[in-house]
Amino acid sequence: MTEIEWWEYDEPAEFAEALAGDIQFIIESAIDARGAAVIALAGGRTPAPIYDKLVKAKLDWKRVTIVPTDDRIVPMGDALSNVTGLAKIFLPKGARVIPLTAEKAADYKAAGRAADARLQDLHWPLDLCLLGMGADGHTASIFPGPDLTEALTGPKERRALGVMPDPLPPEAPVARVTLSHAAIASARALMIAITGDEKKGVLERAIDQGASSSYPIGRVLAEVELPVDIHWSA
Ligand code: 6PG
Repeated sequence: MTEIEWWEYDEPAEFAEALAGDIQFIIESAIDARGAAVIALAGGRTPAPIYDKLVKAKLDWKRVTIVPTDDRIVPMGDALSNVTGLAKIFLPKGARVIPLTAEKAADYKAAGRAADARLQDLHWPLDLCLLGMGADGHTASIFPGPDLTEALTGPKERRALGVMPDPLPPEAPVARVTLSHAAIASARALMIAITGDEKKGVLERAIDQGASSSYPIGRVLAEVELPVDIHWSA
């Protein structure tokens, strides 16, 4: 049974401050221990204030590698691109930002294979995986759809794969590349950042339902060995 710890904040500013501080500590500890830090950061709106605070931290950024937890298969610079947002924030600090969707690919599965190959060159496991969650219970781009089982149960060595959510999320109706369950569950630190009562209720139900949850995040968390820190702000 996964050990879950909830951290709740009354103010969004407190939430962002605390998470930025935790991420900074994880990065510093990784650099002290292994000379470098490799972290996966969620896209979406929730983590933006966290990254605004984190980017101000005094860190040896050139030793930090950042990869999105998932990305939409769109060109760099597209408003839907997660890596574009992360690059804008962290590249000027000297961090390395690795896209999941760099190459032109024949199809979304090929895009996933290319991303997986690129991630094989990184120090692993991740020092941190910071996940968000949609109101439908998806996390990273592990969505209901034809690729859900593969994302959850693929080979341990697979770090990323291409997925086609079904139904397509209206805010980003495109195929995606996501970190695999194996990549997420093997991270040295796993944090989830969500806001609002609706998402809190979904995540509580998902955890209660566990491996048989109708929410993808419930199935992702069911097989995680390390403690999971959930940070929630009203
Ligand atoms: C993405 C994210 C995704 C995100 C959730 C929540 O590509 O959209 O990686 O998993 O974390 O959709 O997004 P919000 O924080 O914008 O609600």
